[in-house]
Amino acid sequence: MQEIDLNFAVSKLGEGRITSPVTGARFVSEGERVLYHSELKGLKSYLDSGREPPGLEMAGPREKIFFDPTNLKCGIVTCGGLCPGLNDVIRSITLTLTHQYGVKRVLGFRYGYEGLSSKFNHAPLELTPEAVRAIHETGGTILGSSRGSQDIGDMVDTLTRLNIGILFAIGGDGTLRGAQAIAREVGRRGLKIGVIGIPKTIDNDISFTQKTFGFDTAGSEARRAINAAHCEAEGARNGIGLVKLMGRDSGFIATFAALANSHVNFCLVPEVPFKLQAFLKALEERLAQRGHAVIVVAEGAGQDLLAQTSECDASGNVRYGDIGIFLKDRIKEHFSQTGRKVELKYIDPSYTIRSLPADAWDSAFCLLLGQYAVHAGMAGRTDMIVAYWNHQGAHVPISLAVSQRKKLDPEGWIWNSVLAITGQPRDLV
Ligand code: F6P
Repeated sequence: MQEIDLNFAVSKLGEGRITSPVTGARFVSEGERVLYHSELKGLKSYLDSGREPPGLEMAGPREKIFFDPTNLKCGIVTCGGLCPGLNDVIRSITLTLTHQYGVKRVLGFRYGYEGLSSKFNHAPLELTPEAVRAIHETGGTILGSSRGSQDIGDMVDTLTRLNIGILFAIGGDGTLRGAQAIAREVGRRGLKIGVIGIPKTIDNDISFTQKTFGFDTAGSEARRAINAAHCEAEGARNGIGLVKLMGRDSGFIATFAALANSHVNFCLVPEVPFKLQAFLKALEERLAQRGHAVIVVAEGAGQDLLAQTSECDASGNVRYGDIGIFLKDRIKEHFSQTGRKVELKYIDPSYTIRSLPADAWDSAFCLLLGQYAVHAGMAGRTDMIVAYWNHQGAHVPISLAVSQRKKLDPEGWIWNSVLAITGQPRDLV
């Protein structure tokens, strides 16, 4: 991991001078921080030198707010791929703005940043408590989504024309970079529009937030697919169950699904390179010993084994080759050459998982994130995301959140546990 400057200072549009209309709340006071370090060894140098350890601004309602809710209009946009919980976050933001702050108008921009572009001219949806009443019961996003940015100046023109005071942008790192550019353009023009990001990535790969919504649901559903793969594998002589899961550059879903389901014998993730021959040899040994095997592969694993392309999607991500299909073909080919008859069943539940409604944990988490986002926006914060850190809600500048991709540590405890339960060799090279 590259060294980064731990500057957790969050930008503000101005001081909060208006008394919050929120009643019965426990307000967060200005100096409250969530500790960045969770281990004593990280804190030691600060304690020894008497310096204050780094901390993230705590999320939650402020007693004094920046925006006058009586004439405030807010906007919400969802961008990028689907993720369980998007509708929960839209609902939570809308309900918190209207019920807790008395904000009268909340607009939902359609199809990602297209909804803020004059080029597309999509009419926004009016988000009212009635309109969002039951949306958390379904997957997807009622606003629609799209990948890619739009002209920043044009989007700020739209916000100004519609008199939006706070924009809530729900999306992954591309969306957050867009939100950062909007916040900077707003600052350059001397406007008072807050931009609050709610990190959305089913891959759980955004830095400075220990978890993102949808990840829990993804793990549970992936477990069902792995169970099916295990049943199929056990039900045949030399049965192989192969499951491909999402995870472009970070293998968190594959890892946690493997831990949740200790039937997995090989877990292949982007962070841990492997050689095809070494993997096939280990698979052969496993079949010889146990007569069946379950393999879980994250979509970004083993990309060096596939033909490289420079083609990108609208978010600017290089299009990856299909490692699931590649492994399926190579495994079949290998065993037909060695003369061992195998029965391989391939399962790719990626889009089934991504389009699910959130499970109970994710729904509750989305509700909290929506509330944190509204409190931050009302308090005049901008150019930041709401994050989950050391079991608390926190504010993180967008610049830090997008500074690097969060990845699994191959030397860490989690990967150690994966190796222990799968029994796969540490190095498949
Ligand atoms: O949002 C991240 C992600 O789920 C990645 O794991 C995956 O590569 C990508 O989205 C696929 O999305 P789409 O099919 O919409 O391009």
